[in-house]
Amino acid sequence: VKKIAVLTSGGDSQGMNAAVRAVVRSGLYHGLEVFAVQRGYSGLINDDIREMDLRSVGDIIQRGGTILQTARCKEFVTPEGQQLAADNLRKRGIDGLVVIGGDGSYQGANKLSKLGIKTMGLPGTIDNDIPFTDFTIGFDTAVSIVVDAINKIRDTMSSHERSSIVEVMGRHCGDIALYAGLASGAETILVPEVPYDLDEIANRMSENFSQGKRHSIIIVAEGVGKGENISAEIMKRNGIEPRVTVLGHIQRGGTPTHNDRILASSLGDFAVRRLIEGDSGKSCGMIKGELVATDIDKVVNTKKQFNMELYELSKRLSQ
Ligand code: F6P
Repeated sequence: VKKIAVLTSGGDSQGMNAAVRAVVRSGLYHGLEVFAVQRGYSGLINDDIREMDLRSVGDIIQRGGTILQTARCKEFVTPEGQQLAADNLRKRGIDGLVVIGGDGSYQGANKLSKLGIKTMGLPGTIDNDIPFTDFTIGFDTAVSIVVDAINKIRDTMSSHERSSIVEVMGRHCGDIALYAGLASGAETILVPEVPYDLDEIANRMSENFSQGKRHSIIIVAEGVGKGENISAEIMKRNGIEPRVTVLGHIQRGGTPTHNDRILASSLGDFAVRRLIEGDSGKSCGMIKGELVATDIDKVVNTKKQFNMELYELSKRLSQ
């Protein structure tokens, strides 16, 4: 490849800018011409593409969000939309594309790859729901934000001897809840991957309260349901009303952690090197410190494995 483009798509995540910077700088370093597409796949369809230079990505490694903006594009789902997107790249002579996004964005990358555009995917989502990488870009920052929030909630819950529910994002994946729950010492972690028993949770809470424990934190992954509903169910069972905090989009903003910046930088550079070697249709990931490229087909058809060991550990430590 001689000319490549980069885009961000789907929900944004912290570290996307660091990934864009890495793709642009690595591409230029290797003598490629590098372009950026604005607003994800909509920008491909609307031909919103500009050439980048070294300075275009200055001062962004530390910024949350994405300077390329992002969108969820309906038109791109149709074969006509996909063809138009590929044609718009080809007319500029762009034959390589790096897509930074979640699983929805990967499906699009796969389609373009089948239309002959060499395409690499980078896992950019706070959800950590993409397999064949230990972590996705943004997950580490989102977890840090949740842990920081729980620290604050815990202070006031302890003072008032209350119980609290914190609802976190993650779509169908419980990883944000699991990692943040373990790191903040939450008493209960509810995730979509593991069945739970509200009677047992309510009983344990009353027992703990009768034995002098005067606060408890329940972290609820949004894939399980609404924190408000769980609070009402607990109240019905034991008369204790957990106060609910929904952290929402706060989890997707702010400066990326060094882990996310390093992951994004490594994966961005790796994607460019693989494109230069002629690779296509792959998702870039990092497993136990090793850079790996896995067929996007395989990635989108595999469910990320839930870390039961960490889950069991959190249970052992939260009595
Ligand atoms: O995929 C990232 C994510 O933040 C999910 O955790 C959440 O379910 C969803 O996006 C929220 O999407 P939106 O910002 O469109 O409401």
